[in-house]
Amino acid sequence: MIYKIENVPKLEGKIAIGGSKNAALSIVVGAILCKDIVILKNIPDITDIHDLIEILNYIHCRVTYQNFTLTIDARQIEYKDLRIQQIKKLRASYYFMGAFLSLFEKVEIYKPGGCNFGKRPIDIHLNGFEKMGAIINETENDVCMTCPNHLKSQQITLSFPSVGATINLILASILIKKTTVLRNVATEPEIVDFVQFLKAMGANIDGEGTKTIIIRKIKQLHGCSYTIMPDRIECGTYLIYGAALAKKLTLTNIISRQVRSLLSIFIEMGVDIDIKQDQITIYETKHLKPVKIVTGPFPSFPTDLQQIICPLLLKADGQSMIIDTIYSKRISHIEELKKLNANVKIVDNCMLISKSNDLKGNIVTCNDLRGGAGMLLACLMAKGKSYLMNTQWIERGYQNIIHNLKLLGASIERCDENEIL
Ligand code: EPU
Repeated sequence: MIYKIENVPKLEGKIAIGGSKNAALSIVVGAILCKDIVILKNIPDITDIHDLIEILNYIHCRVTYQNFTLTIDARQIEYKDLRIQQIKKLRASYYFMGAFLSLFEKVEIYKPGGCNFGKRPIDIHLNGFEKMGAIINETENDVCMTCPNHLKSQQITLSFPSVGATINLILASILIKKTTVLRNVATEPEIVDFVQFLKAMGANIDGEGTKTIIIRKIKQLHGCSYTIMPDRIECGTYLIYGAALAKKLTLTNIISRQVRSLLSIFIEMGVDIDIKQDQITIYETKHLKPVKIVTGPFPSFPTDLQQIICPLLLKADGQSMIIDTIYSKRISHIEELKKLNANVKIVDNCMLISKSNDLKGNIVTCNDLRGGAGMLLACLMAKGKSYLMNTQWIERGYQNIIHNLKLLGASIERCDENEIL
């Protein structure tokens, strides 16, 4: 999929942020643990969710999706070998490991797909499952696990607060008839939302949002209706677009404290911004100061926003620096930015970004979801026309992005290859 993008003077208007992609992905898989009907509201209309629905259909869950509401009935769920292509399409498919261990005490599954920015091991997930009694047979492509002596409750300390491993181990523990304690867990808002959802189904869990989570035994889970939290990364993305290109942009349906690390960077840069609890307005700022950004686990600056803020830093009066401590190889956007005449380089593990007044449109490519969102911003900033290739990456995680940007006054259309040649 290709977007044709033209530089426009200034964006202006209002956007309501949708439901959180990463919270929704874990919650949708969590719903299959319940032998009852679960209604999930504010589910974003993105390809990652549609890919997940295909997997749910494959394991005989009944699913309907309408008006951002997903209804899941897992009463007829069946054990299936999950070495199917759909698993490779997205990262969050690894949540079927924890969920299947919980339900069937076994799983045969391909390793997950998702954005490619270097190695993305799942050793912390597997070490946790092993500690709980799983016998693991792992190859380069797949993982097979069985629990000959049943899943056991444990006290597990994660070697790093991985978001995925935290959720996967909660999924595996939830139906065990004794108490499980997970230490050094991730504290991201998506984890809190996931646990809140499990609690709405009757789970007995404490400590979400802190470094220790305790999962106590329950008789069974029951159906519920739950509304997914707003997407803090989508919110951060449009805030950055606003800081780079807007005369005035208001974002609604957000939780401001969840983007605090980005707002601190904006304040350091001198961005003109008006922050309310559930709404932020960003105004045109003439002079931006350079900054140093180091990504880290929540509440530090999120890795998911570093590729997107990169083009904004091209407007700052001096040299900025980004160090991604979570994914040091999440840098595919740098070579693409150079094609637009951006003054960016990589020295050791640092991305150095300098003022670039003369960005020019070109044909550039998305190599992953957030890198794609960053390149889309850079194309909007560049003079003249740009063609952005492989934009299916962007649509894995941003609903209605073309529609939203057009409402703000951007010139952006889908086009086909013939138009470029
Ligand atoms: N890690 C390991 N071993 C593991 C798991 C993780 O070494 O078993 C390392 C990773 O290589 C990385 C760090 O730990 O260096 C953090 O990884 P984490 O497990 O927290 O990431 P994830 O769960 O695979 C989720 C989001 C990502 C987001 C990261 C970090 C989902 C589906 N994905 O991935 O979101 O970047 O947390 O916050 O929730 C995105 O939305 O674009 C995206 C990539």
